[in-house]
Amino acid sequence: MDIGVFIPIGNNGWLISKTSPQYKPTFELNKQIVVKAEEHGLDFALSMIKLRGFGGETEFWDYNLDSFTLMAGLAAVTSKIQLYATAATLVMPPAIMARMASTIDSISNGRFGVNLVTGWQRPEYSQMGMWPGDEFFGNRYEYLEEYITVVKELWETGKSDFKGDHFQMDDCRMLPKPQGKIPLICAGQSASGMGFSAKHADYNFCFGKGLNTPTAFAPTSERLVEEAAKAGRDVSSAVLIMVIADETDDKAMAKWELYKSGKDQSALDWMTTQGAVDKKSGKDTNVRDMTDPTSAVNLNMGTLVGSFESVAAMLDEIDTVPGCKGVLLTFDDFIKGMDDFGTKIQPLMKTRQHIYSE
Ligand SMILES: Cc1cc2nc3c(=O)[nH]c(=O)nc-3n(C[C@H](O)[C@H](O)[C@H](O)COP(=O)(O)O)c2cc1C
Repeated sequence: MDIGVFIPIGNNGWLISKTSPQYKPTFELNKQIVVKAEEHGLDFALSMIKLRGFGGETEFWDYNLDSFTLMAGLAAVTSKIQLYATAATLVMPPAIMARMASTIDSISNGRFGVNLVTGWQRPEYSQMGMWPGDEFFGNRYEYLEEYITVVKELWETGKSDFKGDHFQMDDCRMLPKPQGKIPLICAGQSASGMGFSAKHADYNFCFGKGLNTPTAFAPTSERLVEEAAKAGRDVSSAVLIMVIADETDDKAMAKWELYKSGKDQSALDWMTTQGAVDKKSGKDTNVRDMTDPTSAVNLNMGTLVGSFESVAAMLDEIDTVPGCKGVLLTFDDFIKGMDDFGTKIQPLMKTRQHIYSE
């Protein structure tokens, strides 16, 4: 099973709380995390793109670095780990994104891949006059389909003459081509999003669900297996999970309770409002799941709380889910969390023993 880290490109990581570790995103912080990840044998690191935060007392995600330029910097200071940046496809023309990816492919010597997102939070784009109108909620993945067609033509042949509804190329050129195939990931949860992933992505990310229920996302992975079979392609799921670990179950649970007790209500209110704006994508979009009040403090991400032994056993269980080949980790405290994972959790995991024999 592959393990990756979802690096904290935004302030305070994924805890919308006044009582969780408070920090701003810097290159130095993310470099320390990714260098540690590489030392501990993790397979990949991903950064998101977020262009507008949620505010509140903690100014949640009001501070965010840019994904592509951050990964370019990280590519220069690492040598083994696979790196993924997220393309904000509404505001990065495909020919520019293709060239930036080709550049990071060169910096990283073939270790770079792209996470494709359509965007779901209108103010991220309307604040700069670049929201195409609310009909975009309904045709986001048609737009993305055209987008990736242009990008793939440029990567594979160095040129594109694609003519579509959203993009018209006119003998567009892009060299150098990347040295190999650039892997694509996506995190579609809606029917159209999963259909897109099945056709174009190598991995589809999904949200884990619940507290200490590591396999609860299995139905989502099952949907991807079905879509991938229809498309006749090999696409795997990877699940997003937050790990809060300590020496004992009780100590870890005390931290989780502390973070929940300090939830930043006005930042959460902003997220709920944004989640309700999209009336078109249907019930299966995870944007609404994220705003579910049960544990909105970490965006209702699947959360594993416990001793190092308990967390290792729960992570191993994920490997039993059909179609799932990876886990994307977040932590409450990324520096300590990454070290604890590398030295105290991973050595106990049956699914990670291969990294010690390599
Ligand atoms: C691991 C992961 C990473 C994501 N990264 C981003 C991101 O960087 N920017 C963004 O706007 N959306 C991001 N999303 C949201 C997805 O792209 C997607 O829109 C969401 O999961 C809802 O699925 P749907 O688009 O099919 O409705 C991410 C989701 C997941 C699970």
